Amino acid sequence: MTTLKDFIQWNEDKWETKNQDMYIQTKNQNTWPWFSKELDPDVIDFIGTDKITSTKILDLGTCSGAQAIALAKMGFDVVGTDVSTTALNQAIEQAKDLPTETKLEFLIDDILETKLASGQFDVIIDRGCFHSICCISTKKYIANLKKLLKPSGKILLKTMSLQEQRFVSYDNFAGQQIPMPYRFDEEILKSIFSDHFTIEKIENSFFYSSVIKPPAQAILTVLSKKI
Ligand SMILES: C[S@@+](CC[C@H](N)C(=O)[O-])C[C@H]1O[C@@H](n2cnc3c(N)ncnc32)[C@H](O)[C@@H]1O
Repeated sequence: MTTLKDFIQWNEDKWETKNQDMYIQTKNQNTWPWFSKELDPDVIDFIGTDKITSTKILDLGTCSGAQAIALAKMGFDVVGTDVSTTALNQAIEQAKDLPTETKLEFLIDDILETKLASGQFDVIIDRGCFHSICCISTKKYIANLKKLLKPSGKILLKTMSLQEQRFVSYDNFAGQQIPMPYRFDEEILKSIFSDHFTIEKIENSFFYSSVIKPPAQAILTVLSKKI
């Protein structure tokens, strides 16, 4: 019988291999379809610019760190986490010339069994991580987001939309074919999150990308802790 632990280990190994293959094939360029060095316009709208220096942000599933680096360059205090050592080494390399006062840290951490300290983040940005791990455990994911977020914190979640017809692929685990990534509509997202968080916003969006045009259709969900 496969356990949650097996599933978590499979996901970590899978992403390490996927990221390693991608960087080898592309001579260290990130060519995942969602990749963008710029921040998405709706991400900028959401975080605002009024409390930059006092806002601590987790960029969950940071991959090669482009979003975390862009946020840190704006002055935010940023932690980027990922399960893939290869991806994080890329992130560290990309960030090496930033001024020393930049508040940016990259850490290996699996959100399904996070070792990060509780209650430290004002904002958690998940741009394309949840849609690849929701098959493993939505329960652990939700519990750990709640644990890491400050009481007044907010989550910005970007997931692939059901309306997007490209990027259909499957991963195989223990004889199961797992859609990768999962696709969502408003109803599915509400059914997963509405018992646990207040849904402040849910709307159609894109994974704005410097790799593919037109960009992949996404759904942007903004969540806050229920009081
Ligand atoms: C779609 S990519 C997201 C890239 C990045 N957020 C961006 O916007 O460019 C998904 C990333 O999530 C990471 N990941 C997968 N499972 C994870 C987990 N359980 N915890 C943390 N990161 C995970 C993968 O290694 C991969 O780099």
